[in-house]
Formats: sequence, C-alpha cells, structure tokens
Amino acid sequence: MSNWESFWSSNPDLFGTVMEKNAAFFVEILMNKNLIKSEDSILDYGCGFGSLANQLKNRIGAYTGVDISEKCIHHCQQKFKDTRSFHFTTIDSGGAKSGLTEFIDQSNKFDAIIILSVIQYFPNLDNVENLLKDAKKLLSPGGKIILADVIQSEKGLWKDAYSNLKNSIQKKYFLSFVQFMMKARFSNYNKFRIRNNLLNVSETEIARICRNLELHYELLPVCTLQQSRVSYCITL
Ligand SMILES: C[S@@+](CC[C@H](N)C(=O)[O-])C[C@H]1O[C@@H](n2cnc3c(N)ncnc32)[C@H](O)[C@@H]1O
Repeated sequence: MSNWESFWSSNPDLFGTVMEKNAAFFVEILMNKNLIKSEDSILDYGCGFGSLANQLKNRIGAYTGVDISEKCIHHCQQKFKDTRSFHFTTIDSGGAKSGLTEFIDQSNKFDAIIILSVIQYFPNLDNVENLLKDAKKLLSPGGKIILADVIQSEKGLWKDAYSNLKNSIQKKYFLSFVQFMMKARFSNYNKFRIRNNLLNVSETEIARICRNLELHYELLPVCTLQQSRVSYCITL
C-alpha cells in the first residue's frame, strides 16, 4: 500500500458532513444530466463512508461500493444492511492492483463506474491507467466511467475552499465546514499532504491514457463543490 492508501485505511471518516454535501451536489447534477438513470447498476470505487450510497439509495437499480478501508466497508455494510441491492466489499488495491480482478473474473457489468475524489491518492499515473483499464472490462455496452473531482493543480485549493464555504452558508452547515477546515489544516491529513503530495492529473494525461486504452472521454461541466477540480465521462 502507498502512504495515502494506508492513511485512508486508518482515517476513513475524516471529512464527514462535507463529503456528504459534496455527494449530494454531485448526484443532483448527474441525475439532472441523465448521466445516471433509475435502472442503472453502479460501481462506486473508493466509496468511503457511503456518502454516494446515501444519495443513491432508492434512486438507482443496484449499487456496489468498494474501498481499501475495511472500516469504511464494515460501516457501510451495517448502515445499508436493509437496503436491497446495495452491496459493499473491501478490495485489495494499491500499487498496480485495481482490486477489481474478482469482479472481472465473475463477468460483472455496470452501467456506471463512479470514481469520486479517489485518484489524487494514487502514487502515480500508471495506477490510474491500470484502474481505467480494469474498469473498462466491467462496463456494460453503453456504460460509462465517471472520473470525478480530479485535481489538475493544487493552485485551486482556495477556490475549492470558497465554493465549499458558500455552499455551507447556503445549506446551513457552516459549523461542519469550519470543523472540516480545521481537520484539513491541523490533523494528520495536512501533515500527510505536505509529505506525500496529492497526485495532480492534467487533461493531457487523461487524453493520453484514454488513447492508450481505446476509450473516449468528455470533460463534464463542474459537478462537485471543489470547483477547481474537473470531472470526466469516459466511454467505450
Ligand atoms: C476523499 S475519500 C472519498 C470517498 C467517497 N468517494 C466520497 O466522495 O465521499 C477517498 C476514498 O478513497 C479510498 N481510496 C484511496 N485509495 C484507494 C485505492 N487505491 N483503492 C480504492 N480506494 C481507495 C479511501 O479509502 C477513501 O475512502
């Protein structure tokens, strides 16, 4: 496991409410734009504490959440134990492994594979390419990979903080936002960020990876609260 991967394994519930609000914002946009539909079967890669699952409950056909963190998966399994067709699995991912081999071996297919705010914790671009290569094998015909909240450059961090602040005032969760900022600044996360960097991925790199894998991509309009980040819809 890379440093970030072991970090997330032991600190899974770091940003609580703010992640929930981000997922709510994200899902509204995806549904309004018809990028996900009520009958879809969805794979949520790096599902964390289930913020996307909360938003998708009763709104889609089936949902599978995977994460490297056993704590996250255990939490989600308890929380959604009565939600039919919602499943959660710990994956052994990291380095060159996407952790999706079992799904590929079982010929599982998904209409949408969502990777929200995850690849910045990958050590390098080869790992992003490996993940997309495996995700491609899991797409149903007409399916899509939604690679979201990708950091192109850390220069946009203030812009992200501002859009989160604005939303927290409008949606009345300002206190949680302040807690989030304190954690981002003073917890282990910040120490880790200084030591380990977040992986920045430019559109040029996404274009190159998609070319290598014979995938098509389209840049989506802003669909997360981190407004300096970008999201892509990747198709066969
Ligand atoms: C910032 S959180 C995002 C969680 C969730 N997608 C959301 O937006 O609420 C990052 C998540 O990615 C997971 N993660 C990090 N590296 C991973 C990897 N190599 N494979 C699978 N999950 C990973 C972490 O465990 C963590 O739950």
